[in-house]
Amino acid sequence: MSMNPFQLFNTWYSEELEKSKARIPSACCISSTGLDGYPNARFVSLKEVKNDAFIITGSLQSRKGLEIEKSSKVSLTFWWETTQKQIRIQGNASKILDTEAVGYFDERAKDSKIISLISEQGATIENIDVLKSSFAETERKYKNKDIPKPKNWGGYAIRPIRIECMEFEKSRFHKRTLFQLEEEEWIATILQP
Ligand SMILES: Cc1cc2nc3c(=O)[nH]c(=O)nc-3n(C[C@H](O)[C@H](O)[C@H](O)COP(=O)(O)O)c2cc1C
Repeated sequence: MSMNPFQLFNTWYSEELEKSKARIPSACCISSTGLDGYPNARFVSLKEVKNDAFIITGSLQSRKGLEIEKSSKVSLTFWWETTQKQIRIQGNASKILDTEAVGYFDERAKDSKIISLISEQGATIENIDVLKSSFAETERKYKNKDIPKPKNWGGYAIRPIRIECMEFEKSRFHKRTLFQLEEEEWIATILQP
């Protein structure tokens, strides 16, 4: 059976976005391999699906940035509560172009832009007040100006090799469809619940 998992993803995702009351319905969990070998997972928000790749953004020097630099193999997991669906993606992450990152940065709210500019994501800090005063200062500095994208801020395009789409069923007969990329073709199989 040959089917396109992106079409299915888009159909399901649109339905969830339409019906969900969640504040961040684009939230998904990205897992990478920690530098010490332990899996490391955290939520990010999916920016979009573009050219068959899932786009996420953030600091490139964060823990996840360093981990992805070491191993591009990542997974992305969604749980859509409203429509009761789970998506599991495994694939390879590669950095998006800086010019593309600028586009995503420009879409961010001003507060988020300031935080990206002043915070060294993941670095330790003795007192968060230091960052708060830096925030206020930066806010004043850029009162009537655009905030430029910091150099270390960018994004990743995750190109999947495997996508499992699951419809959660009350009966526990969950419908699981596994799509695997084989010689550039998506092959779908049904998995037991
Ligand atoms: C709902 C939600 C959405 C988030 N979205 C992002 C995001 O798009 N990009 C990002 O870098 N961090 C995002 N975060 C913060 C991350 O979970 C994480 O704290 C941060 O990226 C640092 O992770 P790291 O130290 O493993 O790199 C989000 C957190 C939550 C709870």
